[in-house]
Amino acid sequence: MDKWQQQEFPMSLADFDFLRNLAYSQTGIVLPERKKQMVYSRLSRRIRFLKLNSFSQYCHYLDNNTQELPEFINALTTNLTAFFREKHHFVYLDKQICPQWLAKKQKRIRIWSAACSTGEEAYSIAMTLYGQIDLSLFDVKILATDLNTQVLETAKKAIYSTEVLSTIPANFATKYTKRLANNAQFSIKQRIKEAVHFKQLNLLQPWPMSGPFDVIFCRNVFIYFDSDTKKRIIKKFRALLSDGGYLIIGHSESINDFTTDFEFIGQTIYRARNRTAPC
Ligand SMILES: C[S@@+](CC[C@H](N)C(=O)[O-])C[C@H]1O[C@@H](n2cnc3c(N)ncnc32)[C@H](O)[C@@H]1O
Repeated sequence: MDKWQQQEFPMSLADFDFLRNLAYSQTGIVLPERKKQMVYSRLSRRIRFLKLNSFSQYCHYLDNNTQELPEFINALTTNLTAFFREKHHFVYLDKQICPQWLAKKQKRIRIWSAACSTGEEAYSIAMTLYGQIDLSLFDVKILATDLNTQVLETAKKAIYSTEVLSTIPANFATKYTKRLANNAQFSIKQRIKEAVHFKQLNLLQPWPMSGPFDVIFCRNVFIYFDSDTKKRIIKKFRALLSDGGYLIIGHSESINDFTTDFEFIGQTIYRARNRTAPC
């Protein structure tokens, strides 16, 4: 018998196909055969919680209970993130992008963290900006969105384990974080929190924002998508960016095969080419 039928919760090929098709249609996330173990262990928790006995019962439950869909999506998304992850992006923001805004006397600044997970990326952006710009004197908004409702709750609370405090540059940690009484956690100070606006947004569905954005961070999410999805999203990013605006993606990602709308700057940083003038 197939090993997946002998597990605590049996999973047939048809169950796996149902689940991966649903994940793809709802989120764009591609789940190849090699992700079966991951799907099994993440959804087993839901099956146990719901007191069901098999994946086939879970598929049936999902089909008949719309409120399970967000739980299914939350269980399947991978939310690994960190403060100042891929540090060179924040160095570029600090040393190259901010000085351009200051030189142009640009007051309105819009940044989008387009798959923000638990918020570390958006708060790293806000701390970097504060290092250069007094946010209260500029019209700065950092939009931070994710599909997963659970990670957004954590992001809004802005409370993290002190184990990760050392990943924040020491001068920023001193200025913009506060240890909690339990000493095991710290919070992000109010002025940094205020700069970031968290919202739920599925990159696959229509986006309510009109832009233009100056920088879009979309890091470590394209790795889960296929070429069609990437192509569609990159086109929409270009439409929302100002001419010369920046698109920043994850270290193992590339957009070169899908678009000519961007100039490659280096280190997974791209710059939107000017739109060609109408004839
Ligand atoms: C690995 S995390 C990356 C977090 C952060 N950008 C970073 O690089 O550290 C990927 C995030 O993409 C989100 N995600 C996956 N599919 C999505 C979709 N269709 N729309 C919006 N967010 C999505 C997941 O919920 C997850 O939080």
